[in-house]
Amino acid sequence: MNHFEYKNGELFCEDLAVSDIAKEVGTPFYLYSKATLTRHFQAFDSGFEGIDHITCFAVKSCSNIAILSLFGGLGGGADIVSGGELFRALQAGIDPGKIIYSGVGKTESELRYGLQSNILFFNVESEQELHRLNTVAADMGVKAPVSFRVNPDVDPKTHAYISTGLAKNKFGIPIHEALDLYLQAEAMEHIEVKGVSCHIGSQLTLISPFVETLRKLKAFVGRLAENEITIQYIDLGGGVGITYDDEEPPHPKEYASAIKEELDGLSATLILEPGRVIVGNAGILVTEVQYTKSNRGGAEEKHFVVVDAGMNDLTRPSLYGAYHRIEPVKEDVDLVQVADVVGPICETGDFLGKDIRLPHVEQGDLLAVFSAGAYGFTMASNYNSRPRVAEVMVSGDQFRIIRERESMESLIQGESIPEFVEK
Ligand code: LLP
Repeated sequence: MNHFEYKNGELFCEDLAVSDIAKEVGTPFYLYSKATLTRHFQAFDSGFEGIDHITCFAVKSCSNIAILSLFGGLGGGADIVSGGELFRALQAGIDPGKIIYSGVGKTESELRYGLQSNILFFNVESEQELHRLNTVAADMGVKAPVSFRVNPDVDPKTHAYISTGLAKNKFGIPIHEALDLYLQAEAMEHIEVKGVSCHIGSQLTLISPFVETLRKLKAFVGRLAENEITIQYIDLGGGVGITYDDEEPPHPKEYASAIKEELDGLSATLILEPGRVIVGNAGILVTEVQYTKSNRGGAEEKHFVVVDAGMNDLTRPSLYGAYHRIEPVKEDVDLVQVADVVGPICETGDFLGKDIRLPHVEQGDLLAVFSAGAYGFTMASNYNSRPRVAEVMVSGDQFRIIRERESMESLIQGESIPEFVEK
């Protein structure tokens, strides 16, 4: 359930008409509902009530510090994958003791930054990373808390680009080779083994791959125990899917009970890294129709609605062929047309929706692109020298700009013309 609803033919975010916000903020902009963010965080987190756990929100899915701060206030931690995300999480006031650091390519300075910040643990993804971390920790005179991200070779049955737990993916350490690394780590002076981790993919609509993964992890923890290695944390990663169209993902409560049932008998703290399931349907992208046009000549007539947001603002449709529901902000049940909703970028792949059924829309009308809260703004770029759009948060009948629309000046910030370039 979310707080984007039509009332008397007008789209509202909580108690505010989206069109009223657009009048003040201009378009395009991302719009988040605080009540929905809160509800989704709590629905997920409370499913694990009764067991030791930390919900470490996956910062990559939506990284505005207002949103991170909201989750921090609700008891959440953060799953980060870069020094930049660590900086954001700390700026947002997230407890470093609830921050875990994932990712295959951590640089030396990023490892150092994580150690300096006293994060909960690093999810180490290779033998070389383990050695580098040991060296950096030795240099700093500290012990690095470590969990290994194992690759369980489970098929998450999702889009190929976002499945990560198969043997052929670049992520993690093959589970059958991981014991050797744990033994090495135990012998290292500046490493402290804390846990075992995994993340098998994103937008999963089935519970069974998670259960299969947890079973493999449990068997592995048993093997570690046989080798006198005890662990404090089991990190199951993120990945629970949402409804974009007609998908029927598990309710977070169902997911939690299946996991809790499997965990029985294990005395470790559970770490979860949800992103999309919390923020995906808590945000929309609002865009204004610039032009409508029809191209004839081929076998069929094609209708286009050209809007002011493009693939640089929301890249999921272009990159993954992802579907996002698109509807006018003012509901109009009139004439239905089938059109492509396209942006201003000079690429054929620049579309927000293909063959979308829309009522008749005209220049100046506002459209809402739904389910844009996750991997929306965070994947935006300045391609075609387009300033990134504003982000806005609503709470009840109030709204605040939580990120200013970028200016023209910001587009060239840090650029300079060397003296050997003749003007
Ligand atoms: N933990 C790790 C280590 C991850 O790599 C990810 C996502 C998550 C947690 C959060 O997964 P979630 O709960 O959001 O599914 N850009 C793609 C999604 C890429 C996901 C990458 N990893 C998209 O727009 O669909």
